[in-house]
Amino acid sequence: MSYYKIESLEEYFKHYKKSIREPRKFWGKIAEENFTWYQTWEKVMDVNLIDADIKWFTNAKLNITKNCIDRHLNKRGDKNALIFEPNNPEEETQYITYNQLYERVCQAANGLKKLGVEKGDRVCIYLPMIPELAILTLACARIGAIHSVVFAGFSSAALASRIVDCDTKLVITSDGSYRGEKQVPLKSIVDEAVKQCPSVQKVMVVKRTNIDIAWNETLDVWFEDVIANCSKNNNPEVMDAEDVLFILYTSGSTGKPKGMVHTTAGYMVYAAYSFANIFDYKEDDIYWCTADIGWITGHTYLLYGPLLNGATTVMYEGIPTYPDFGRLWQIVEKLKVTQFYTAPTLIRSLAKESTSWVDSRDLSSLKVIASVGEPLNEEAWHWYNNHVGKKKSPVIDSWWQTETGGIMLTPLPFITPTKPTYVTLPMPGIYPVLMDERNNEIEGSQVVGSLCIKYPWPSMARTIWNDHKRFKETYFSEFPGKYFSGDGALRDEVGYYRITGRVDDVVIVSGHNLGTAPIEDAINEHPAIAESAIVGYPHEIKGNALYGFITIKETGEYRDRNNLMKEINQQIANSIGPIAKLDKIQFVNGLPKTRSGKIMRRILRKIAEGDFENYGDISTLLNPEIVIEIEKGKV
Ligand code: WTA
Repeated sequence: MSYYKIESLEEYFKHYKKSIREPRKFWGKIAEENFTWYQTWEKVMDVNLIDADIKWFTNAKLNITKNCIDRHLNKRGDKNALIFEPNNPEEETQYITYNQLYERVCQAANGLKKLGVEKGDRVCIYLPMIPELAILTLACARIGAIHSVVFAGFSSAALASRIVDCDTKLVITSDGSYRGEKQVPLKSIVDEAVKQCPSVQKVMVVKRTNIDIAWNETLDVWFEDVIANCSKNNNPEVMDAEDVLFILYTSGSTGKPKGMVHTTAGYMVYAAYSFANIFDYKEDDIYWCTADIGWITGHTYLLYGPLLNGATTVMYEGIPTYPDFGRLWQIVEKLKVTQFYTAPTLIRSLAKESTSWVDSRDLSSLKVIASVGEPLNEEAWHWYNNHVGKKKSPVIDSWWQTETGGIMLTPLPFITPTKPTYVTLPMPGIYPVLMDERNNEIEGSQVVGSLCIKYPWPSMARTIWNDHKRFKETYFSEFPGKYFSGDGALRDEVGYYRITGRVDDVVIVSGHNLGTAPIEDAINEHPAIAESAIVGYPHEIKGNALYGFITIKETGEYRDRNNLMKEINQQIANSIGPIAKLDKIQFVNGLPKTRSGKIMRRILRKIAEGDFENYGDISTLLNPEIVIEIEKGKV
């Protein structure tokens, strides 16, 4: 029996049981039957969760791009691997076959080598959603360089801190990028960033918008010049199962972003297996994930998961509202998209426009519609189900994280009955538990607790780059021996899970994880600001928006509060990016603090929500009078 593809609910339960009872046998068989290895493993897994020491498929040798590309060439050489849909609907769609992808990845890989990039070197990729982003990411994996893709909406300061953190040798960018009617000068953002990054030896530039850019003769090279004479064949580097494949930064509840480290074999096996099952992938499907490759969803379910299965994956350069609110549906109609994977914030923003944008398009090709990134609220679920899925394509609300590498809790289409706002059941191999504050597992149904994963799974992050201590503390200490997700969840009477939201200081705004601490750090750098506390509050479109409680130094300057608000948001945009701007700012005379001086964010969260009653235990509050003052001044 093959464990790769689940065909019925009965089979799901059978696979699930097997995966928990005999994980080595289960994953060993999947790995053996579905991939190309230079050498197989000694142990399927070798894990100690107390120390966060995690290894899968020990001593196996492989190259993930051989599995993504080379092995498909015989059967699928002329099949489209990538379909690129440009920002401008007038510009032609590009179709890249597996044969062409092979040649372009090999050529780019040879180009990277020519620049002196070696196995284990870090390469930072700061590119818009153009084919070169996919090609260069794969080219890194081909030669064993570690890719760190940074979303091209981050500011130069945020980019610089990510370059410095992992000592990047090469930065790859483009002259500019298209975002609807706007153009973003990416190269100049990179120029600004690399000034602070002594490790950077080269900046390789892909031509996209043909704008004039500043040129540094010692640093800058054009991608097209680098690859001009490079061969279109390349022998992939032989990688160990636990060699690092990539670093991807995610926000934490303290200042510095965390460089989550994913390694090669376990990530590959889980990406492929989960993609095949969760999207019910069939050979002629046209699969589209709207996430940027700069996020984990783009890594696993735009790039690696689909290519590992020999699928056709769509990459869209632009924004959902350009040239109009019907753009996504026009693309679905045009390319005959069969699976569509997007984010709740996008669904909500399109749901507030006229339904004629979606109803006027032929979406009959769609079979599965999915969502990730934050809770898919009931209203959005129904809009998605009615107008996009036409009640025939199951809505797959999938829960996972940058740290988990792949989807953990999700319905399987045509197998698991869906339920609005529920992410339903775990994938095989995933054992979720709800924990109480005393470190006990909460049994039974209709219960709420901290969502942990009890056993290891192949695609879990291995560490935080250069900071294993923080990795252990963040994920394995609160509930020793278990992986703690930082999310709360509810389990219903049939064992379905529903995510209730973060239990730490991370706020999910439009599907982006934002740690409140780095935003506060940015604000506090402003000369007029004494102190700040940022919390999330419910927002109709974004899911959550940011509310800042800010105290001003008594300098007498900055009487003009409107100007100050603008400066605060500018400061945030410069140091993190526009996505972290505050929607509401309230200037206050003090913040509620405990006797030990810790800000009681719980109270501020409630005030921002407009709930002045359920503060919980406030016996340790030092200054209750300030709470009343803040309530009165709520914006
Ligand atoms: C949230 C994205 C509710 C959650 C793949 C998690 C969700 C964080 C869902 C990870 C969902 C993701 N329902 N909440 N279906 N999916 N989240 O690292 O809080 O960007 O911890 O990974 O998004 O965000 P990240």
